[in-house]
Amino acid sequence: MMCGIFGCILKNGDAAPIIHAALKRLEYRGYDSVGEVTIHEGKLFIKKDQGKIDEVHAIHNLDDLPGRIGIGHTRWATHGAPYEVNAHPHTDCNGQIAVVHNGIIENFSELKKELEERGHVFRSKTDTEVISHIIEEELKEGRALAEAVYSAVEQLEGSYAIAVVSAKEPNKIVCARKESPLVVGVAENAVYFASDIPAFLPLTNTAVIVEDGELVVLDDKGYEIRKLADGSLVSRKPEVIDWSPEMAEKKGYPHFMLKEIHEQPLCLRNTLRLQEQYLDLMTTFLDRAGEVFLVACGTSYHACLAASYMFSKLSMLATHPIIASEFVEQHGRAINIDSVLLAVSQSGETADTLEAVECARQRAATVLGLTNIIGSTLTRVARAYVCQQSGPEIGVAATKTFTSQLSVLSQLALRLAKKRGKVSHVEIEQLEEKLEQIPDIVEKVIETQEEKIKQLAKKYRDKQCFFFLGRGVSSASALEGRLKLLEIAYAPALAFPAGESKHGPISLIEPGFPVIFVCPKDDTRKTIVGNIMEMKARGASIIAVVEEGDEEVKGLADDYIEIPRGMPEVLSPIPYVIPQQLFAYYMAVERNCDPDQPRNLAKSVTVK
Ligand code: G6P
Repeated sequence: MMCGIFGCILKNGDAAPIIHAALKRLEYRGYDSVGEVTIHEGKLFIKKDQGKIDEVHAIHNLDDLPGRIGIGHTRWATHGAPYEVNAHPHTDCNGQIAVVHNGIIENFSELKKELEERGHVFRSKTDTEVISHIIEEELKEGRALAEAVYSAVEQLEGSYAIAVVSAKEPNKIVCARKESPLVVGVAENAVYFASDIPAFLPLTNTAVIVEDGELVVLDDKGYEIRKLADGSLVSRKPEVIDWSPEMAEKKGYPHFMLKEIHEQPLCLRNTLRLQEQYLDLMTTFLDRAGEVFLVACGTSYHACLAASYMFSKLSMLATHPIIASEFVEQHGRAINIDSVLLAVSQSGETADTLEAVECARQRAATVLGLTNIIGSTLTRVARAYVCQQSGPEIGVAATKTFTSQLSVLSQLALRLAKKRGKVSHVEIEQLEEKLEQIPDIVEKVIETQEEKIKQLAKKYRDKQCFFFLGRGVSSASALEGRLKLLEIAYAPALAFPAGESKHGPISLIEPGFPVIFVCPKDDTRKTIVGNIMEMKARGASIIAVVEEGDEEVKGLADDYIEIPRGMPEVLSPIPYVIPQQLFAYYMAVERNCDPDQPRNLAKSVTVK
């Protein structure tokens, strides 16, 4: 879903080196393959391959393409592994049209089938290639390029920022946007477009933000924006961007972690667009399993823990969430051909998780994967896998990839519930509806609570130690809140299912000890009120993450953060973890720690 796109029309000079340099600046959006196309004397010239930009450049010399107009792409695979054929740009049957795309076309299978029936020949496994063939069809009808793109995007479902060039109209680039980002850069001797401002910031700081549902035509005169809905002209003046290149890469946020926390609504929208057939395949394996192990490390393990509640409550499936580094010792000899191991790993490369996978494979168990990186080791060794589509996560502490994992796992649990007929249709429909609303709910939590959380971090910054408590599925999000805080703000913290606190941890409590309670209004709510009272009686300072309007808990708490009402229990960890991520972030800032690169930690741990 991430990917970076860029293009330019120059008055003079060669476009290729400019595109190459701009793609380098977009590499943080994806880096598994790269490609460029330029137009010269009415012909398209293309170079593309798998690999990082520098690797591809070393082999193909990306600067060596003729022409002053061109577009380029740095890829983060979503459909189709990172091979040369799947790298963008994608052309039509005659090599006359080239397209770069960032996003996901949900209905590409249907479109591809129709196009193949009409004789179109597909070279790649990507969703993007359908766009070039649809435009080819539209041009055959005698339309001009802009009109062809206009009617092509009408047929697309999903998200996209696309740019199209055609050998027949060699002085133009046509772009369109739905959800995926797109900006235009304006200079005296050139016009640019890109996924993000950093791509062209060293060339110009004058930018025009393209809004959702708009089409842009770039040519020698500049840019023209139209609404996709009715074709009407949009007049929008450029604005001057006063970001440094470093700030621009973080979209103006001081840290990647904060940027990634804010990206969660978008990421969650993308995880609702996964290809159904992959989810169905996974569900079939889970349904047939004699036993299911959910295996992962760190934050991904917390997603597994939450998933075990989802699978039990929705699909009546008992699963074992296991920390990967313990798997071989704990269950290695007990697994067999009937076992399923669902490995959850953002990177798909974590050594402990891969060791558990290897053990399962040797004992003929079925290995399933949930990962963010197509082409990672996990995707190669798993019998079936789902890619969570979160885009690259730069901050070492996982945030957006965690909530996306939760979303995918809840979708799997829901599918299995349907398949097994264990939950009523009405309940399933309600859950599906809520799942659709989660991106908006998360957006609202960030919008309305962030400032308050910032103040809380100021208030609690000097505390020596923290407790995080929750019951039921919320014990998983309490564990995650604790991990975030200790890993980036270096604040010692403990987390337990709240019921366990009276079996030992409560002895630590003394007046002013901060205890964070994660308490949605679910079946556990009544009992957790008792746990809050126990802590309060010993002088603890209570910070509660509560449902909006839960006056009882608000009345007991010293401080509270509110989450919109009506969250079904199994989905609640998604919005309820957001304030905890923000709290950890602002605590790190208050304590002068670098949230993006905490000491002693790495994004991907490939040693055991
Ligand atoms: C490292 C990272 C964590 C991550 C864990 C598992 O410890 O710092 O953020 O949760 O690895 O990584 P994975 O890529 O397997 O999800």
